Amino acid sequence: MIVAIDGPAAAGKGTLARRLAKHLGFDFLDTGSLYRGVGLQVLRQGGDPADPVAAKAAAETLDLALLADPDLRGEAAAKAASLVAAQPAVRAALLDFQRDFARKPPGNRGAVLDGRDVGTVVCPDAGVKLFVTASLEARARRRLAELQAAGRTAIWSAVLQDMQDRDARDSKRDVAPLKPAADAVVIDTTSLSPDQVFEAARAIVDAKR
Ligand code: CDP
Repeated sequence: MIVAIDGPAAAGKGTLARRLAKHLGFDFLDTGSLYRGVGLQVLRQGGDPADPVAAKAAAETLDLALLADPDLRGEAAAKAASLVAAQPAVRAALLDFQRDFARKPPGNRGAVLDGRDVGTVVCPDAGVKLFVTASLEARARRRLAELQAAGRTAIWSAVLQDMQDRDARDSKRDVAPLKPAADAVVIDTTSLSPDQVFEAARAIVDAKR
């Protein structure tokens, strides 16, 4: 079984996806970390993430060690990720890895993937599709708290603006734009606790099993 969880930045996808995977005994893949890795690799090589040649080369030679790099979670990597993610050659280079993981997860039981296009492009046949969203302000508040908890300097107006820019880039791009799959269940987490989000998702998964 495949559970696809998509949605905008800091909506609570990652927290939910990890918890669901643990609960179900499934393997989890954070697809955003792949795009962040590609973005970070371009930055480390002194390149421009918006440059299609540099971005494609990084996607095709992605150093998986970068996925454990502390800078992966920073805002520079997030911005670079959304710049490389708008490029078709980058998405194509990462597609097989994601599909293989979904179809043949290491533990052989099932997979939970979270991202922007899991239910629409990567796994259109997923048994469960969730679209997890929240208001821009709620998401920016969560991201600010996350950055501060990680000891990073974070300014509210900058976090809000970065998130707005990234939402626009992710939703308006030509290739695999962020949008709910036609058969996705939407969960708005603006005024829900992580426990409430988990319970809502669990009920949806149980109904489909
Ligand atoms: O953690 P957060 O929600 O801020 O972002 P993320 O899931 O780590 O994704 C970072 C960026 O990668 C997004 O803004 C998208 O541009 C891109 N991405 C994508 O295009 N497709 C995916 N399946 C996952 C991420």
